[in-house]
Amino acid sequence: MIRSVITGTGSALPRTCVTNADLADKVDTSDEWIVERTGIRQRYIAEPDETTSTLAIDAARRALEAAGVEASEIGLIILATATPDHTFPATATQVQAALECGGGVAFDVQAVCSGFLYALATADSLLRTGMATKALVIGAETFSRILDWEDRTTCVLFGDGAGAVVLEAQDVADDGPGILASRLHADGAHKDMLYVDGGPSTTGTVGKLRMKGREVFRHAVVNLANVLTEVLDETGVSAADIDWVVPHQANARILDATARKLDLPAEKVVVTVDRHANTSAASVPLALDTAMRDGRIKPGDLVMFEAMGGGFTWGASLARM
Ligand code: ACO
Repeated sequence: MIRSVITGTGSALPRTCVTNADLADKVDTSDEWIVERTGIRQRYIAEPDETTSTLAIDAARRALEAAGVEASEIGLIILATATPDHTFPATATQVQAALECGGGVAFDVQAVCSGFLYALATADSLLRTGMATKALVIGAETFSRILDWEDRTTCVLFGDGAGAVVLEAQDVADDGPGILASRLHADGAHKDMLYVDGGPSTTGTVGKLRMKGREVFRHAVVNLANVLTEVLDETGVSAADIDWVVPHQANARILDATARKLDLPAEKVVVTVDRHANTSAASVPLALDTAMRDGRIKPGDLVMFEAMGGGFTWGASLARM
């Protein structure tokens, strides 16, 4: 059967690391408050010459190298971001140009923190229809550019970065590698809980992120547990069979609460929020690349990806590596 197989991963972070103590010099906050409420200890913040596309290009190059795939073989690029370099063209087309893999399909998807899950499921569908045989799926963000640095309730939570995977259509055995199932959801009724207060068609400005953290937290735990259960039911896999969960890294407490709801041991959850903070659409592929490169995730492992973000949007995918 034809499945979409993850054959390589890569990631990129900005040069500058900002610790909680660095932030406490500028904002009325403390390392203790941030660590206790979120688990975040530091984040990487883009310098002016670092943009969503430059981070995405670096992550994509590393993923291609890991997969042993030439840029010229890539026929599809889907880039998830809520912080594109420009309103248009899509940042994916800038990655395509920089890598010199012109001619194929390239577009952005916008599902905020769930963006990588949306991009992965879309790429999987397109590969299985034969639209392309090799794809780059990227999550890349520079959320530092849309943060209100005077608002301590939000600015301490986010960081910048990018992650990428190479996805290849392969004819595999039933118990072989590939994406086994994906489920995506959206509920636009909750816009005011997490949104950016600007945009080309409303204010003509980029705007700043606004969030009601407590309400987001409540919805996140319920929605994530539900979508994970859907994917498990669809595949007939039990939570105990999962080797690793690679979740969106919003907050250590959301990760703990979701794992508890599903009876998943904390040791199976890949956590990078302490080092990267919340990098929105980049967080899942950044965490995946971290756990691939340090040897935790191995070929044959069953890995669950999950994310929830503004919209609200949420989703999960199960893959065998
Ligand atoms: N430093 C110090 N004090 C702070 C800070 C800060 N950075 N931010 C808020 N406070 C204060 C508040 O002013 C408040 O003080 P008060 O009691 O005197 O009014 C107190 O801390 C508690 O504030 P709450 O907002 O009630 O704190 P809460 O325990 O809910 O934690 C947090 C806030 C961390 C945002 C939490 O609600 C959360 O994690 N929510 C999930 C949101 C999230 O992760 N969003 C990411 C995007 S969506 C996604 O990725 C899933």
